[in-house]
Amino acid sequence: MVRLDVEYSPVGEGLGMREFWVYVWLRRVAVIAAHVTALGLTVLLSVLSRPGTSLFSWHPLCMSVGFCLCMTEGILLFSAEGSPFCFKSRNAKVRLHWLLQALVLLTAITGVAFMVASKNVSEHAHLATWHSLLGTGTLAATALQAGCGACLLFPKLLGVSSLQRLKLYHGTCGLVAYLLSTVTVTAAMFTEWFKATVSGAAWYVFLLLPLFPALVVMNQITNAYLPKKKITT
Ligand code: HEM
Repeated sequence: MVRLDVEYSPVGEGLGMREFWVYVWLRRVAVIAAHVTALGLTVLLSVLSRPGTSLFSWHPLCMSVGFCLCMTEGILLFSAEGSPFCFKSRNAKVRLHWLLQALVLLTAITGVAFMVASKNVSEHAHLATWHSLLGTGTLAATALQAGCGACLLFPKLLGVSSLQRLKLYHGTCGLVAYLLSTVTVTAAMFTEWFKATVSGAAWYVFLLLPLFPALVVMNQITNAYLPKKKITT
């Protein structure tokens, strides 16, 4: 395997923000809150779906473990503020990153297979809601992203000519896949099943939960790919 030495600028460094301690602390609190929210949302959705009670029940469990937890943690582990996985070495982070993203693919395929099987049994139409259409888009973007990642892992084997350009595509495509998955999870809150399961003020809280990790991840990815130019005022 080829050693990856992707240059990744710590969040805010490109803007000279590291000097502002308030920014550093705000960012630290936001990253911790993003970890807690991602884990909390996954646990809540998994409990609400009551896994094992039907074919459908595995869909929210698999999808939330994959997209809300593994995908979020797989990106946040590169955050300068650190993650629950206290790896210092870049190589260990990259290894854990692709391991978590492989888990995303595995849980996504399993979750959708359960959903399709459940619909076949109940003879309901496929791809009939915004959630299912957005979900299909998310799966396509995630598969494309995984392809980009595989090219970065084995550039020589796959005949990659410009590694730098591929890194940029990987980051951009990753952002699109993450945002699409956030929109899909949010759209899941509008499905008949979810509205029958959660109602009132709790429903509005659920609606906001996926947004928080998304903002932190978006901030992290966009900052990582900004030109490293210091503010000199
Ligand atoms: C990013 C994660 C997710 C993706 C990619 C995804 C994908 C999909 C797809 C492709 C379908 C349609 C299957 C078909 O038509 O045969 C579907 C259906 C469904 N999903 Fe998800 N899903 C995700 C997360 C969730 C979550 C977290 C929940 C529960 C909170 C959920 C609840 C449902 C329900 C109730 C349906 C059936 C109604 C419908 O077709 O919209 N999904 N999902």
